Amino acid sequence: MQIIKLSATDSTNAYLKDLIFQNKIEDFTVVMAHTQLKGRGQMGTNWLSEPGKNLTFSVLVNSLKSPVTDQFLLNIYVSLAIYDTLTQLHVPDLKIKWPNDIMSGHSKICGILIENILSGQLIQASVVGIGLNVNQMAFNKLPNVSSLKLLLGRSLDLEELLLNIVENLKSLLGKNGKLDRSHLVERYETALFRKDKPSTFTNPDDEMFMGFIKGVSDSGKLKILLEDNILKEFNLKEVKLLY
Ligand code: BTN
Repeated sequence: MQIIKLSATDSTNAYLKDLIFQNKIEDFTVVMAHTQLKGRGQMGTNWLSEPGKNLTFSVLVNSLKSPVTDQFLLNIYVSLAIYDTLTQLHVPDLKIKWPNDIMSGHSKICGILIENILSGQLIQASVVGIGLNVNQMAFNKLPNVSSLKLLLGRSLDLEELLLNIVENLKSLLGKNGKLDRSHLVERYETALFRKDKPSTFTNPDDEMFMGFIKGVSDSGKLKILLEDNILKEFNLKEVKLLY
């Protein structure tokens, strides 16, 4: 496995994407950065991380060649790879907040940004960007955010952690053909944050509504059980969970 270590770059996702367009690079090539100057988050947000303290890296996955309609499956694999790695470290009360934030209790410890390069109806390559809060001790003004050091009371080796995550991802993807897909979806759904609990959401007009998270659809929409027993599917722009 090739690991490219950078002292600073705008975004490891952007760097890896440039590499894909310039060269032939092998599956599971990793780009990690000590400092990201313009780290990207979900839905156009920024990803902030104290230099040298956390994992900010991107992995190339180009062996899947799945149809575009299966895009969400990789989110499931990646979320579970991180979930499994952190379970092995005994991080308390781990959950996956749909679509792919990793939580410990009510605090987010890891964010994932997957950017796909499409060719027709196929995913040609995926850039899997992972920001995991590891040794950072303070998150000024950011509510509900934590790090492994705050949770476990000890520092962790960044590179060792990265290797464990990539190994777990490889092993989940390797089992792709053999493991039936519903088993992975089931594992993901079991780990969902606030699954089956009465929860409050807002819609794009900032109106509140109540419901119970039940699972995800094949295309990755969140299934919420609403009043009158109506099960409705929502995409990322249509719903926000308040917690
Ligand atoms: C989120 O909003 O939760 C997703 C955050 C993803 C951050 C990671 S850090 C490494 C990679 N490079 C980026 O610019 N973003 C991702």
